[in-house]
Amino acid sequence: MTTAAPADPIALLDERLLDALQRALGADLPEGAQTLLSPSRNPEFGDFQSNCAMPLAKRLGTKPRDLAQKVVDALEVDDISEAPTIAGPGFINFRLKSDALGAALDGLDSPVLGIDPPTDAERETLVVDLCGVNLAKQMHVGHLRATVIGDALARLWSRLGHTVHRQNHFGDWGLPIAMVTAAVKRRSEAGELKIADLGLADLEVIYRESQALCAADERGLKAVERFGLGPKARAELEEQVFGAREEMARAKEALVALQAHDPEYVRVWEAISRITLDSCFEVCARLQADVTEAATAGESTYAEELAPMVQDLVDRGVAVEDDGALIIDLKDQGIKEPVLIRKRDGGFLYATTDVAGIRRRVQTLGGTRLVYAVDARQGLHFKQVFAGARKAGYAALPDGREAVMQHAMFGTVLGEDGTPFKTRSGDNVRLSDLLDEAVARAERVVEEKNPQLSPGERREVAEAVGIGAIKYADLSSDRIKDYVFSFDRMLAFEGNTGPYLQYALVRVRSILRKARDESGIDVDRLEGGGRPSFAIASSEEKTLALELLKYPSVVRGAAEACEPHRLCVYLFELSTAFNSFFSACPVLKADDEATRWSRLRLVRLTGRVLADGLESLGIRALERM
Ligand code: ARG
Repeated sequence: MTTAAPADPIALLDERLLDALQRALGADLPEGAQTLLSPSRNPEFGDFQSNCAMPLAKRLGTKPRDLAQKVVDALEVDDISEAPTIAGPGFINFRLKSDALGAALDGLDSPVLGIDPPTDAERETLVVDLCGVNLAKQMHVGHLRATVIGDALARLWSRLGHTVHRQNHFGDWGLPIAMVTAAVKRRSEAGELKIADLGLADLEVIYRESQALCAADERGLKAVERFGLGPKARAELEEQVFGAREEMARAKEALVALQAHDPEYVRVWEAISRITLDSCFEVCARLQADVTEAATAGESTYAEELAPMVQDLVDRGVAVEDDGALIIDLKDQGIKEPVLIRKRDGGFLYATTDVAGIRRRVQTLGGTRLVYAVDARQGLHFKQVFAGARKAGYAALPDGREAVMQHAMFGTVLGEDGTPFKTRSGDNVRLSDLLDEAVARAERVVEEKNPQLSPGERREVAEAVGIGAIKYADLSSDRIKDYVFSFDRMLAFEGNTGPYLQYALVRVRSILRKARDESGIDVDRLEGGGRPSFAIASSEEKTLALELLKYPSVVRGAAEACEPHRLCVYLFELSTAFNSFFSACPVLKADDEATRWSRLRLVRLTGRVLADGLESLGIRALERM
């Protein structure tokens, strides 16, 4: 990936320090030596400090202050910093020049906000697995994470200029699916229901009823233990191996019929699929997550590929027989549990489809990087299928490299009592109910804050604030961790919340509106050639400027690590820096023209970065709230 934009004086300083270390120490410079550059702990000494002299001196057996002096003598930073000073045991302090900051801000204030598109050689094709709903089931709070995190990662990567494909790995195939299909078909034929009138809630009831008819089979569970499979496979086997003979027989019959494209079964299955997806797309649209038909590749779309793929694996000796089943042994990849790809009865598994998914994503979609926004409980599963696909050569790129595969795993959403978020009756919370409640609560908050909004505008704002709050709460916590779902916390206008960020941007926009409408300032002058220059003087301006300049590298870092929360933390800090700037530095009433223009430009640039950042997370920006 590209390095930080050269416009960032911090990155420049870092580069120059490394150069100076090389010049000062030559061959003595230990491999991997670091500049240890960080914001100053004490602003009295400067803006940044490098602590590199202490550990280096220790290694080289010299005095840290002497070493610091040598580095300072070799430093060439006139264009960025005032003359560096040495303090205490050997800290090297830098104070950035106002011109340098101005020039860097100028560089950032471009249409791309300092994020140049990748060169052809750098451009990646990212395939993001997101959403992953299951047929005949409502989306619940777990799908919130898979959808929102996956969509944010897709947005971040496309913001950087890479090619992005989204894949909704819709769970629409296999025995449980055949079971619902059989049940719906039977009941419709018996005149008990009309398929055209069915909603997702009805389907879910039918699903549960047929499931209840079937008890888990001992043998299936034994296989789980023998292979040491994870909870996903366990749940799957539990679901797939039914004790209840009759239901089992019907489900199997339905599965065979579906596999043979029997039109009667396919028609029912398609109807169920339609109902599920329509409702899924509706929720995703409300979530501002780009999950559509085009991005949906159900497990069924792999059905025909599995037998030939498994044959290929057998032919090449990648898959081997184990007690009648087929496995890919992964011990040579450092994983003791093999991946099971065909059961003794000839059936394929969730893992088989995911291996085929990797092959399609790399070989057909051209993915150079596959990212899976899926629950952390599927950690072992993805380790296995990644290793299995690698062993099979399915992740190989045309140039001989291998696609990067990342499980962007996430923790559980917890209720306020610290246990997984459920309704009072112990059911999963329906995502659509959760969104409704967030919006209803947001409407009350908005009404209280701004009674002047018309009812229409209030509803619109409430939708953006409520949904934004839920998304932001999810995205802003380190995804690996569990987090506690709290409406009160996520809807607060203070703290690291969605509304706080949306409000900072509203404030920016209102200043610019005021400048134009009330002070008659030609704000269009802030754009294009001949625009006024930045004059960074006060410490609040400086803090805001330095915050702004971090933007390109934060977006890159968040994308690379698949960690949207890094961007959230950044936007929160930027908003905070902006609010401090705004209370300390008069903009429209600034002392002189030049200062006023510079501050207006800072305001506008902050607004652009905030809007771009929110867009990259999939959170709506507002004019008023
Ligand atoms: N439908 C799956 C589930 O509910 C999630 C799919 C995740 N994606 C994948 N490629 N396996 O657990």
